[in-house]
Amino acid sequence: GPISFRDKKEKVAEHVSRFVRDGDIIGIGSGSTSFLALKKIAERAAGERWNVLAIPTSKEAEMNCNYYGLTTTSLLNARPDWGFDGADEVDSHNRLIKGRGGALFAEKLVMASSPKTYILVDESKLVGHLGEKFAVPLEVDSRSIHIVEAALKDMGIDQVDLRMAVAKDGPVITEAGNVIMDAWFPTISNNLEKELSAIPGVIESGLFIGYSVEILTV
Ligand code: A5P
Repeated sequence: GPISFRDKKEKVAEHVSRFVRDGDIIGIGSGSTSFLALKKIAERAAGERWNVLAIPTSKEAEMNCNYYGLTTTSLLNARPDWGFDGADEVDSHNRLIKGRGGALFAEKLVMASSPKTYILVDESKLVGHLGEKFAVPLEVDSRSIHIVEAALKDMGIDQVDLRMAVAKDGPVITEAGNVIMDAWFPTISNNLEKELSAIPGVIESGLFIGYSVEILTV
């Protein structure tokens, strides 16, 4: 029968766990695919009695690392030898949209600190046109919501949603105490990541362009 996305995520997770070596410091991504990889890596490190240090990209990832026995550290103490993370969309130039789970800020800091990041995706994430299914998430200081709306309007973008929480009233509040604005772009140029960062109050965007990534799909 057809292999489910769940099984495929398991396979990519298994694949990345084979790259682990004793002594590695690894950037640990967020989201459901990264979670499976984290579990496999923890299992492998424990089985081999290896010392592996994890640099998590979210509180969830940190909690899961500690729960499954991976010692965590931070970017203040160490730099990753390599890392892995998921993505929401990947195009044929390895450009990514990330941030469905709201962890884009720390994900970008960890990726920017890593010489190499494996992007773990099933083929449903591969798109012909970046922005096809997902908006570009912007982590924004809540005082700058109007500034950001106006700046996007100047860029011709009218469709912007303040991301609302699901199991709680009000907007999503990120780990850094900011809000997330999801902006819908018909086309995404290579300059867009920098243009968005230049808007006052934008902390980070979920566009990842030009990072040293290797896409792992099954
Ligand atoms: C978290 O903020 C996101 O960037 C995730 O890395 C991305 O949404 C992928 O998650 P899944 O593996 O759950 O699809």
